[in-house]
Amino acid sequence: MAEKVDILQVIDFPSFTNARLESLFSVHKSFQAKDPDAFVEGLTQRIRGIVLTPPATARRALLEKLPKLEIISAFAVGVDVVDLDRAAERGIIVTNTPDVLTDCVADLGMGLLVAISRGIVAGDRYVRAGRWLREGDMHLTTALGGKTLGVVGLGRIGKAVAKRAEAFGMKIAYHGRRKQTGVDYAYHPDAASLARAADFLVLCCPGGDATRHMIDAEVLTALGPEGFLVNIARGAVVDEAALIEACQKGTIAGAALDVFENEPRVPEALFGLENVIVQPHQASATVATRTAMGNMMIDNLVRHFAGEPVLTPVG
Ligand code: 8YV
Repeated sequence: MAEKVDILQVIDFPSFTNARLESLFSVHKSFQAKDPDAFVEGLTQRIRGIVLTPPATARRALLEKLPKLEIISAFAVGVDVVDLDRAAERGIIVTNTPDVLTDCVADLGMGLLVAISRGIVAGDRYVRAGRWLREGDMHLTTALGGKTLGVVGLGRIGKAVAKRAEAFGMKIAYHGRRKQTGVDYAYHPDAASLARAADFLVLCCPGGDATRHMIDAEVLTALGPEGFLVNIARGAVVDEAALIEACQKGTIAGAALDVFENEPRVPEALFGLENVIVQPHQASATVATRTAMGNMMIDNLVRHFAGEPVLTPVG
């Protein structure tokens, strides 16, 4: 039997994904080592693949330690955690897990939009604290029907959120790198212009340098005191300090966040804010979707090491 290919696993996966990965490859788990750097030093001539998911990264320093590296297979659609430029220079293949997570991520995006605008999480807290009994009805909330949802990043996930929002009677506008043909939604060339035109913003764009802090104080001011922000993209798309200030001062009505700049660390300033919902980066976290993501990540490795083209190359 041919020897199993050596793969570096830098972060844990669900047990069903770990089990299949380990059945096919010789898996080296640096995240379990006391000193992950020293662990990798001992393997530099053997590792031919890396598997990872955010918030773990595969930056230049790691890539440079691994001269035999051929493929980085991500358990994620977003690959901002990988040094794509260096990988391309070295001819290292990068793969991701598109499509299989689109509906789940869009469901959470729509769910957060409903939850933040209708005060669902605040309402739960209100009842549990006995305030309904003591103080009577909770404050009134904001309707979605007839309002405009501004989608930042009208890719697969953005379009799936837009479709759901249309079913709620919302109008759609969007911002992205370019105006898309065959799309009827109003296009805005920058995020501030979209924020001015929209009642709510949902962020569905890729992370990385091109979108870092795209949602800054100016955009939040443009969204306005009745506007809500939903982020299911990457934490760094938003200037988190500016967002906290906007939620504290009422510059915007509130925010529902599945992602943060420094996961799993969430700024404590957000915890005390009634107009904020925080989630543990769980938009793709259903059993069905995570199973499909794990299988796609592994299938990409299997195909590559069998000399076949990978299923979902990035770029
Ligand atoms: C993560 C994601 O992979 O696909 C992405 O880009 O951010 C998520 O699906 C998942 O949260 C595991 O970390």
